[in-house]
Amino acid sequence: MTETATIPPVKHLPDAQTVTSVRHWTDRLFSFRVTRPQTLRFRSGEFVMIGLLDDKNKPLLRAYSIASPAWDEELEFYSIKVPDGPLTSRLQHIEVGDEIILRPKPVGTLVIDALLPGKRVWFLATGTGIAPFASLMREPETYEKFEEVVMMHTCRTVEELEYGRQLVESLKDDPLIGELVGDKLKYYPTATREEFHHRGRITDNLMSGKVFEDLGIAPMDAEHDRAMVCGSLAFNKDVMEVLEHFGLREGANSEPREYVVEKAFVGEGI
Ligand SMILES: Cc1cc2nc3c(=O)[nH]c(=O)nc-3n(C[C@H](O)[C@H](O)[C@H](O)COP(=O)(O)OP(=O)(O)OC[C@H]3O[C@@H](n4cnc5c(N)ncnc54)[C@H](O)[C@@H]3O)c2cc1C
Ligand SMILES: NC(=O)c1ccc[n+]([C@@H]2O[C@H](COP(=O)([O-])OP(=O)(O)OC[C@H]3O[C@@H](n4cnc5c(N)ncnc54)[C@H](OP(=O)(O)O)[C@@H]3O)[C@@H](O)[C@H]2O)c1
Repeated sequence: MTETATIPPVKHLPDAQTVTSVRHWTDRLFSFRVTRPQTLRFRSGEFVMIGLLDDKNKPLLRAYSIASPAWDEELEFYSIKVPDGPLTSRLQHIEVGDEIILRPKPVGTLVIDALLPGKRVWFLATGTGIAPFASLMREPETYEKFEEVVMMHTCRTVEELEYGRQLVESLKDDPLIGELVGDKLKYYPTATREEFHHRGRITDNLMSGKVFEDLGIAPMDAEHDRAMVCGSLAFNKDVMEVLEHFGLREGANSEPREYVVEKAFVGEGI
């Protein structure tokens, strides 16, 4: 029996959605698209619970950022493959035509409404933490609300940056959003454990001022700059200190301020 054959059908569940495409980026990262429930409304940057049935036919669900923008007809997700992970050890084998469970209750703090108006917004992500920004970079409201958007994405290796790189590259020619993006989006990918034209941690490149220098932009300040953060617990904690150093304060949906944070996953890492 192949491993794909072990994915139980979820056809008769009310929250079943069909996989429309799958792409494997590395041996630990993949992305996929599924049909969108007609009634699902969400704000770009939010997450939902998705999953499969377990061996006892019980839903096995995990939080996933929706990587596609709110206007897209389908839903896109960008996923880790945890070797012994209860969900992703199986989810990584999905194929076009398979079904997954998707609970249509979007939530999350990484939404434009949770920030005070500003001139420039920073999207700060490590690893799969780029997923909510894959949505927000394709969201027209991002460019309507901000004059400048800086996407900093850091991974250990260059191949782990590829999903984000191709997405940013595709925006230029996007018939729906290309014109709006124009040259407002500045992309600053870095690798920390391999040779690459930009190296180092997001925290270090902000504190040293290297990113401002490289992009030829003004340093961060609380009056003009807003930020959204999504990465490991350790990254989130350290980058929050950096943002506070520049005078930004954490906000929420109920109390918009200068920055918002969401965990890319729970735990210390695989
Ligand atoms: C708000 C929120 C949004 C999330 N969005 C995404 C997303 O868009 N894409 C995604 O791949 N995951 C995302 N996650 C993580 C996701 O919920 C699962 O943890 C992940 O799919 C692994 O599931 P699992 O059952 O295989 O293993 P789990 O038992 O859930 O995790 C096992 C261990 O693997 C590590 N791990 C889990 N997820 C990651 C990750 N993404 N990167 C690095 N290490 C990880 C952690 O150490 C964790 O303790 C999100 C989590 C939260 C809380
Ligand atoms: N990425 C891989 O090739 C790989 C392969 C197999 C297993 N794993 C395991 O998978 C887990 C998750 O790996 P990951 O690479 O997705 O996530 P990660 O360890 O969180 O690293 C992602 C990126 O964030 C940076 N970073 C980590 N902590 C930071 C902090 N406190 N402040 C600023 N930047 C920080 C890392 O830089 P540094 O490089 O400087 O730490 C790296 O560039 C880890 O436990 C790892 O052992 C990873």
